[in-house]
Amino acid sequence: MNYQTLSNNVKMPMLGFGVFQASPSETEKAVGMALATGYRLIDTAVAYQNEAAVGNAIKNSNVSRDQLFVTTKVWLQDYGYQQTQQSVFRSLELLKTDYLDLVLLHQPIGDVWGAWRALEDLYRDGTVRAIGVSNFPPELVEQFLQINEIKPMVNQIEINPFYQQTKNVSYLQSNDVVAEAWAPFAEGKNGIFHNPQLQEIANVHQTKVGNVILRWLNQRNIVTIPKSIHQNRIESNFAIFDFELSPTEMEMISSLNTDVSMFNQADRPDVARTKNLINWHVNH
Ligand SMILES: NC(=O)c1ccc[n+]([C@@H]2O[C@H](COP(=O)([O-])OP(=O)(O)OC[C@H]3O[C@@H](n4cnc5c(N)ncnc54)[C@H](OP(=O)(O)O)[C@@H]3O)[C@@H](O)[C@H]2O)c1
Repeated sequence: MNYQTLSNNVKMPMLGFGVFQASPSETEKAVGMALATGYRLIDTAVAYQNEAAVGNAIKNSNVSRDQLFVTTKVWLQDYGYQQTQQSVFRSLELLKTDYLDLVLLHQPIGDVWGAWRALEDLYRDGTVRAIGVSNFPPELVEQFLQINEIKPMVNQIEINPFYQQTKNVSYLQSNDVVAEAWAPFAEGKNGIFHNPQLQEIANVHQTKVGNVILRWLNQRNIVTIPKSIHQNRIESNFAIFDFELSPTEMEMISSLNTDVSMFNQADRPDVARTKNLINWHVNH
């Protein structure tokens, strides 16, 4: 495993495990398999409604808490100083832990400033080892960096071969904010697992398309959190540290970028609303 060092010197594993769209029973089993495989970063969220299952899996594993990096996210209905603090306390209870490694604001909508004040205080008193944001556009990250006393340490955003967000990632990295990729496999959209260029590279390294994608992110210094509920995939996705992509292969993958998100924003009212609200934040 290799690690990213956050701006406050906390070490974050480069490869973790996501549990979006997994039921509580699937989550508990999958996280158990992931921990047994060697994953040490688990990414959940209040909105996924499976924090208790993650907590059970951690409790029943042989991995000690200090070896783990547990992330959760505050959902927008809990934004505002008091609600955000309460949300984090509830997450601690469900996850059966007395601290969290990383808490993110899930979306850039609503009272993000009040929510951030709450995270800052939880960071100051040691309840949370690092704080960050998710789906925040560079304009709002810039405001957070300039105005807040404690700067976001991570921005978790969609990054995959079809939506590479190259400018956004360079902006984050040049400002000492770790870029973390959600949906590294674009949730399988656009035939990603059968893409001929990715398959060609996978053949050269005698690996799988998924591993090529995860390795490509790793070589761009991007943390990622692939999700699977299947043991064979959980195990195979973890095998990215025994091969290296050449500059030519990295270029081949760069050429797959479409600059278009793989997620139909009309299907996700929360995301569709984001654009309007971003403008609101930028103008206020
Ligand atoms: N911050 C945010 O707004 C946000 C948004 C989305 C996701 N996330 C986080 O990012 C994590 C990852 O994103 P994601 O779950 O949306 O999508 P993803 O990791 O890109 O893709 C997951 C899908 O790929 C399949 N899969 C996994 N490994 C595979 C393999 N080796 N071969 C073939 N299929 C494979 C999984 O199926 P099976 O499970 O059936 O194996 C699942 O359908 C989430 O779980 C969540 O923690 C955050």
